[in-house]
Amino acid sequence: MKPIVKKVLMGVGGVVLVGALGGGVWAWTQVSAFSASMDKVYDVPVPKLKVVATPELIARGKHLASSLAGCGMRDCHGPALAGGKTMDVGPLGKFTAPNITSAGLGAVYSDGELARLIGHGITKTGKSVRFMPSHEVNWLPDSDVQAIIAYVRSKPAVEKPNGLFELGLLAKILDRQDAVVVDVARRIDHDKKEDVPAPEPTAAYGKFIARLCMGCHGEHYGGGPIPGAPSDFPIPSNITPDETGLKSWTYADFTKMLDTGVRKNGKKLDPFMPLEALEQMNDIERKALWAFLKTLKPRPMGSR
Ligand code: HEC
Repeated sequence: MKPIVKKVLMGVGGVVLVGALGGGVWAWTQVSAFSASMDKVYDVPVPKLKVVATPELIARGKHLASSLAGCGMRDCHGPALAGGKTMDVGPLGKFTAPNITSAGLGAVYSDGELARLIGHGITKTGKSVRFMPSHEVNWLPDSDVQAIIAYVRSKPAVEKPNGLFELGLLAKILDRQDAVVVDVARRIDHDKKEDVPAPEPTAAYGKFIARLCMGCHGEHYGGGPIPGAPSDFPIPSNITPDETGLKSWTYADFTKMLDTGVRKNGKKLDPFMPLEALEQMNDIERKALWAFLKTLKPRPMGSR
């Protein structure tokens, strides 16, 4: 072997070895930080709450559970709320949302504990819930949270064991890098009470709804691959009013996409985009969301 080639190979090997050792220590610190944070018991009291269900409250809760809050999506708790489909996200893990009917966790949680879970991402034990996106819906006003609880309680008991939940090492590391959200409660400011405007077709209300889009389209809505997701995963679009985003779109294009799943360019939307819930948004919610997206600063595709 020519010395120069040998030298190069040794160099590469050395880098790989040092990388593996250094990376191993780094990964270990990340994973321990993740575990420590997940073990934290939060000092957030359970609100004293007994939800008095009315048909109107249950109807509002049903709307929210199938649209903005997304509880009933197939990949979440499922339409019967008895547990959803298992999501297989490659090296991140396999996740199944549990049965929350009264034959499942619904029997274990009080109304106050459910309200704390939705509002703070804190489970019955006082520790953070994993993955359930409370940080995206914790702006919902108390009346809406009560509506969701009333709806959950109105569903028939379904006997069904909870599915697989396996957290990959990579998910723990990426959580610490703020690339994915597993440790939900640490993302929430538990002292903050949001000042949410009434549900009207305004950008001010739409800004809250648009939190639902951040996990995929990015914190600035600039789109691009989801960090850590397998390479064959669909790439969320740029939804800012940029040339590479929604600049040429009208409100009619947007609602048509929600109703038919077809984008302005005539292509069918990848099913990863959660139309199942977003198509259930009512006129007020759709208009508010659109009004907000129009106020965004244009950003290039991939800026997340
Ligand atoms: C679970 C991930 C996910 C969430 C949450 C999500 N999207 Fe998407 N969205 C995608 C993906 C992936 C695509 C690209 C689909 C494709 O290429 O077919 C997309 C595409 C779009 C498009 C089409 C853009 C184009 O150029 O054709 C629009 C508009 C859009 N999303 C708006 C939204 C809005 C508004 C929200 C929040 C209310 C949202 N999305 C929430 C994943 C998501």
